[in-house]
Amino acid sequence: MSNSIIQYLQEHQNRFLEELFDFLRIPSISTIATHKPAIEKAALFVEDKLKKAGADKAYLIQTKGNPLVYAEKIIDRSLPTVLVYGHYDVQPADPLELWETPPFEPTLREGKIYARGASDDKGQIYMHIKVLEAMHATQTFPCNLKFLIEGEEEVGSLHIEEFLKEKENQSLVAADVVLVSDTTVIAMDTPSMVTSLRGISDFQLDVSGPKLDLHSGVYGGAVANPAEVICSILAQLKDSNGRISVPHFYDDVIEYSPEERRKINEQPFDIEKYKQEIGIQEVFGEKGYTTLERVGIRPALEVNGVYGGYTQEGIKTVLPAKAYAKISIRTVPNQDGNKIAKQIEEYIQQIAPKGVQVSFRSLSGLQSKAFTAALNSKGIKAATKAFEKIWGKKPHFMREGASIPILATFQKELKTDVVNLGFGLDSDKIHSPNEHFGVDNFAIGMKTIAAFYEFFGKGE
Ligand code: BES
Ligand code: MN
Ligand code: MN
Repeated sequence: MSNSIIQYLQEHQNRFLEELFDFLRIPSISTIATHKPAIEKAALFVEDKLKKAGADKAYLIQTKGNPLVYAEKIIDRSLPTVLVYGHYDVQPADPLELWETPPFEPTLREGKIYARGASDDKGQIYMHIKVLEAMHATQTFPCNLKFLIEGEEEVGSLHIEEFLKEKENQSLVAADVVLVSDTTVIAMDTPSMVTSLRGISDFQLDVSGPKLDLHSGVYGGAVANPAEVICSILAQLKDSNGRISVPHFYDDVIEYSPEERRKINEQPFDIEKYKQEIGIQEVFGEKGYTTLERVGIRPALEVNGVYGGYTQEGIKTVLPAKAYAKISIRTVPNQDGNKIAKQIEEYIQQIAPKGVQVSFRSLSGLQSKAFTAALNSKGIKAATKAFEKIWGKKPHFMREGASIPILATFQKELKTDVVNLGFGLDSDKIHSPNEHFGVDNFAIGMKTIAAFYEFFGKGE
């Protein structure tokens, strides 16, 4: 790779960080409707920075939801084209009182940038914008570039999905590879690439009993209590071996050979550190599988929240009329979200006691499929070379338990390989208080991205 790019990235890094701080000050939370102006502002920010970085075109594409930002830099139609995907929306910042510095007032401490979105995903898309700038400034473009940055990843990517289904849009964003920086590496001395992510579907479970909250003395013991019923239903979704109890839930789950499982477990993984980092005494999950397998190749069902009845200060003796739960499922390749939704619904209706009504339905309409990378694709090869060159080591291939909902759609609709070239760390606290991104991660990420373009452009 040209030394001038490396030099440019180093010389301008402080300014890059200042600009990134401006980006991080925008509270573009997609989950909360009142943050819509910040969503617009973040989209415009990305558009503006892409233009200033040297894109030929950069503009917003309105959807029924949050705008997409599209940009391109076409050097030579005969060269390969890379489509960069990422998201400018972030998760809510609560609980606010646990942040050492406020989530939307980015702060640099001990070489780390603290702010909501620092690692997921503003810091990571900013690396891409600045590599574009560096290549433009040094006039060294080894390939064509397109960008598609969305604002709904954290709520399930529903509108970019609609967008990608239109033929016209498919030709606009057509590329030879989709490049995504929205994942992690194992450690700064242990590079890795995410080769699979799980799918996700989310649900709302409502249990209704009496038509109003009752006096828990007058009626207590004589009427089914929705708060208790929901606990009982939730408790029956998994058995004591950590297996999901819904009949036929595992029917389509692929079983891996001992050889493949051995490979998965070869990945560097310190279980003591894992437990210590999240503050647990013991791991829990499906019997017969290791922690890496439980998140990498097995599906999961998690209750994300349960509510209902009186939860404010002090005592209020009620027998609640209603209780609610939010549930999400992580699916693995070959599992069908619709089929699973039906299985769970049937099972819940069957175990629910008489005397309450139970409703189980999709919460946000989200139903993304699991993603698996094509391991011998040109993109993975170029990324492997980029890691070797910049990190001095071959990357491990890693299976991620989390989801990036749109990746499977890129493969299906654009028939294009996807490469995850992410530079966060598991300790970045994404979605949690005190999210951060290392300045070193930002710097090495930019270099690795630039090296990727070089290898991919040459078809290496
Ligand atoms: N960037 C994350 C996914 C991720 C997390 C990849 C950790 C690798 C390591 C993404 O922004 C995310 O949080 N996805 C959500 C999607 C959901 C809200 C629809 C997820 O997995 O919960
Ligand atoms: Mn993300
Ligand atoms: Mn996220």
